[in-house]
Amino acid sequence: MDRIRIVGGTALAGEIAIGGAKNAALPILTAALLSEQPLTLNNLPLVADIKAMTALLAELGVGVEAVGDDGRSVRLSGASAAETTAPYDIVRKMRASVLVLGPLLARFGKARVSLPGGCAIGTRPVDMHLAALQEMGARIELKEGYIDARVDGRLKGAHILFPNVTVGGTENIVMAASLADGETVIANAAREPEVTDLVKCLIGMGAKIDGIGTDTLRVTGVEALGEAEHDIIPDRIETGTYAVAAAITGGDVLLANARLANNEAVFRALGRAGAGITETPKGVRVERRNGRLTGVDLMTEPYPGFPTDMQAQFMALASIAEGASMITEQIFENRFMHVSELIRMGANINVHGASAIVRGVPRLSGAPVMATDLRASVSLVLAGLAAEGETLVNRVYHLDRGYERIEQKLAACGAKIDRVG
Ligand code: UD1
Repeated sequence: MDRIRIVGGTALAGEIAIGGAKNAALPILTAALLSEQPLTLNNLPLVADIKAMTALLAELGVGVEAVGDDGRSVRLSGASAAETTAPYDIVRKMRASVLVLGPLLARFGKARVSLPGGCAIGTRPVDMHLAALQEMGARIELKEGYIDARVDGRLKGAHILFPNVTVGGTENIVMAASLADGETVIANAAREPEVTDLVKCLIGMGAKIDGIGTDTLRVTGVEALGEAEHDIIPDRIETGTYAVAAAITGGDVLLANARLANNEAVFRALGRAGAGITETPKGVRVERRNGRLTGVDLMTEPYPGFPTDMQAQFMALASIAEGASMITEQIFENRFMHVSELIRMGANINVHGASAIVRGVPRLSGAPVMATDLRASVSLVLAGLAAEGETLVNRVYHLDRGYERIEQKLAACGAKIDRVG
């Protein structure tokens, strides 16, 4: 099994190109199921989760055709879609597979999607997705490990109030509502930029949606959706991750294609920690000004708050910052799997419930480590870049799910990093 080997201590310098957002691309790919007309997508990231979602769509009968030769554009044809079961083998590897539920049910009146089951960062149920679909007239049974959803005729518009902010739930329901009968109001909707990108794509396909970017989406169902072409937004989590890489190594990196606009909480926290941040026409430049970084307190929240998907990376940074940082995780239970590995590298971290107190140490030391999810794994890569000596990160498949050529992007900025068998 592949591992990533890092010899830490080099300040990163250069440019890193930020790819398309994985978490925008995943729901947008499933939107192809809603229409008989083709959907062309550009700026897809070349990561394992996108390949897995494309394979799932092909299994459901969607035509998938590469456009151009860089692998980042695809033409999806929902006309041939016929299969309505998303099997366990695919769903268990990628929870986002549950995003086919709303589109399949809305277009075909039925869907069978394997229940995702447990996951390293908590139980992550889909109860809010199901309750909302029931309010829209779906009959839902859970049997043999599958969500079996049916509706006679079309789904009906409804007033949905999510008890908590759910990104995937909002995405599933906004897609389902686009083809429902009448108006659906989604209150307490997620406002994540990835949700907004999906809504823009749906509007391009002919959906009628008001309230874009707010916590109340109003969707008036239409008979059918049409053809569209859509460019996926840059990945704000990839951006934030490489921004931390620049800061944690005392480097100076231009994040090409990145914007400050949808990543304010992360850049503000980095600024407070002592990094210099400048937006240029080409992207965002991140550099560590002088001396040691300073610890910062932060709390994960739904957008526009600090993203849970950047919590582990900031914990790596806090580990070597001056002073203490209190990092509170409010979105997922059990999302501190990186703590024990960071401690093995010399970090001083105490966890109390949903909060971790990180007391910065002058330096970390390299060690063999492993992690159980995508963002935890990347936090260990970041820690390794700043540590003294060699770090070996095991279970690289987690990284490959969401980071494109991570070792090449970092090596191009001078990091001593490679992939070993
Ligand atoms: C998405 C992102 C993930 C990110 C998360 C929060 C994708 C593919 N993944 O995940 O990277 O960390 O948003 O920003 O976009 N919950 C329920 N019942 C439900 C649905 C959710 O209890 O029916 C809970 C979850 O367990 C979690 C919280 O609500 O504690 C938020 O989850 P949600 O926003 O739905 O996350 P995902 O869409 O799974």
